Amino acid sequence: MFGCCNRDEDKFPNPQEIEFNRTNRNLPFGGGIHFCLGAFLARFQGQVAINNIIQRLPNLQLVNHTPDWRESITLRGLKSLPLTFDKNDFKTY
Ligand code: HEM
Repeated sequence: MFGCCNRDEDKFPNPQEIEFNRTNRNLPFGGGIHFCLGAFLARFQGQVAINNIIQRLPNLQLVNHTPDWRESITLRGLKSLPLTFDKNDFKTY
């Protein structure tokens, strides 16, 4: 199950923490011959999107600190992530 394979406590010391410097082999894009064909694109899009959001909305805040996870045994993800930001920072391009 992709939803739990990266949270194996025997492999990852802090499995519930986001650690961008993890060096362990992990499986968000699967592995072997069915490794995700879009992994490079997805990683690049994530980098561009997250960098832009952080730079453009410096006062971004979580509305609450209890994540609302989807109940799925296949893919792990949030149902929603309510955020607040300073409306003066928001510009459309
Ligand atoms: C964050 C985004 C993404 C995640 C987490 C993700 C995750 C995965 C995973 C876990 C698999 C393996 C499934 C399996 O072994 O049964 C997979 C396969 C695949 N992904 Fe992605 N993916 C993402 C984005 C994309 C994008 C953007 C594309 C295309 C532009 C894409 C195309 C594919 C294809 C074609 C496969 C099948 C590869 C095969 O079976 O040989 N994925 N993906």
